[in-house]
Amino acid sequence: MGEPRLTWNPDNPETGPSMPAAFFYDPGVFEEEKERIFRRCWHVVGHVNEFDEPGKYVVQDILEQSVIVIAGQDGAIRAFHNVCRHRGNRLITGRRGKAGAVIRCAYHSWCYEQTGALRAAPRTEHLKDFRREDWGLRPVRMEIFAGWVFVTLDDTIAPLAEIAPGAEAEMRRFFPDLDNLELVEETDVEVAANWKVIQENSIEGYHFDLSGPVHKELAALIDFAGYRLTPHGQWWTYIGPPNTGATHAYGVPLAGATWQTDWFFNIGIFPNTTFYTFPYTDMVGTFIMIPTGPETSILRFGYYAPKGRPVPEVTKAAIAWMNTQLGPEDIELNVTNQKGLHSLGFGSGRYLIDPERPNQSEHLVHHFHKLCYEAIRA
Ligand code: FES
Ligand SMILES: [Fe+2]
Repeated sequence: MGEPRLTWNPDNPETGPSMPAAFFYDPGVFEEEKERIFRRCWHVVGHVNEFDEPGKYVVQDILEQSVIVIAGQDGAIRAFHNVCRHRGNRLITGRRGKAGAVIRCAYHSWCYEQTGALRAAPRTEHLKDFRREDWGLRPVRMEIFAGWVFVTLDDTIAPLAEIAPGAEAEMRRFFPDLDNLELVEETDVEVAANWKVIQENSIEGYHFDLSGPVHKELAALIDFAGYRLTPHGQWWTYIGPPNTGATHAYGVPLAGATWQTDWFFNIGIFPNTTFYTFPYTDMVGTFIMIPTGPETSILRFGYYAPKGRPVPEVTKAAIAWMNTQLGPEDIELNVTNQKGLHSLGFGSGRYLIDPERPNQSEHLVHHFHKLCYEAIRA
């Protein structure tokens, strides 16, 4: 018999307790989340333009699993388990690259084509009942949604268009260049916090003008009274109109700058994918909370910009500002929050849910916690 399972009643957001602290560090809950959330959801791998030449690949690790997404000679994008069928050696260890005509296993040189077919397996010609065509890489389910490549380890979940109806139209409203993006840079940061601690920080406006100085800079670029956080089932948005009086952003002047949108736009897809842009920038950011343990995560910051045009100075400044200022200010809060959750003086808190303060209300935090709870307990 294991420990009794943790429970919570998520049905009283305005008066009841917030999701209990143990959900953010309990190893049993983490195992349930691995099985019931991360094995059964869509994971964003990269933009479709990252696969514009044969052999270009991106590796996506999903907890103990690893998936290769690779472009073939025929232009098709395919996904496979990143493992050699001979003795189970991981095939590719880096995050991105370009393979030649074959992917060669470093152990005994089994060679796989970009279609996953096993082309060569040294010294197997005398093996009884061995047919090369039976030993190709095992495929992984993949789909392209709104210009992004996603994979899932589950063959039964609904396609993203059904899970997140309306999300693509909303992305296209703010990202006119959605199909024409290329990767500018990607940074992984290890964060000593549960993945949900990172998510809940990003989906509330309550701390914007109450926490650190960099957050106040962001709030000043937005007409913050008009900031709105809106749940739509398995996806959500948090959107702020521009403060049109701004003359500088991210430490540089706005005069002469061009941008894709002057709005602060964020769209989240359950459980851990966010696409966003900062006001007055010409970029699409990805913000992915990748769980690595009950109290550790990798926060993956991706920055994509329209292909074939120079990245404006304001956008470059925004990327640097996210990497060196806003990101670290939030990560520090994530880490101190994670530590505090263990305190005997906490246990559970309250949601600041106030319809009269829709720009600061924590209703989206509750919405997200409820989705997590229902996913592991339904
Ligand atoms: S494990 Fe890959 S060739 Fe042996
Ligand atoms: Fe924040």
